[in-house]
Amino acid sequence: MTGEPLPVGDSLFARMGGRKGVAHIVEAFYARVERDELLRPLFPDDLGPGREKQKLFIEQWLGGEAEYSERFGHPRLRRRHFPFVIDRRAAGRWVHHFGAALRECGVANADVATILAVLAPLAQHMVNADDDVPRTPLDDARLD
Ligand code: HEM
Repeated sequence: MTGEPLPVGDSLFARMGGRKGVAHIVEAFYARVERDELLRPLFPDDLGPGREKQKLFIEQWLGGEAEYSERFGHPRLRRRHFPFVIDRRAAGRWVHHFGAALRECGVANADVATILAVLAPLAQHMVNADDDVPRTPLDDARLD
């Protein structure tokens, strides 16, 4: 579970409004992260660059263009999150906000359920607070 595209074909991506729809959803998600007093301190002061990467990743993950991997290599999401100390509570909040952003943007309940069924365990997989892992920032490093 390292960020391989969801095996959903391109219909889910199309129903979400394609690239524009995904951008809208990630913006709604980031607006929620920005207001969350537990999550906000984990993120850098400037949310802009991360938000753009997240758009590229989610688009690729939902079966859109693979620009994320063309630019940054393999997602290796757990590894990319090592610099951020993530506990179970933070993971739960992350999923909560993503689900709320999807609903806010009008994604149908059945599609929200499909997405969260994969995202919830993926977020738990990102929990690293008690692990002895390298915390050095990776920034835009290309990973294989
Ligand atoms: C479990 C709770 C999570 C927390 C607290 C968290 C936090 C973060 C933070 C702080 C960043 C860096 C943002 C920046 O540099 O501006 C980040 C990047 C990112 N996160 Fe998460 N994240 C979580 C879960 C997830 C999940 C489940 C996904 C997959 C859908 C994900 C996908 C990404 C991606 C694609 C990036 C950009 C990585 C890169 O290329 O640098 N995150 N996350």
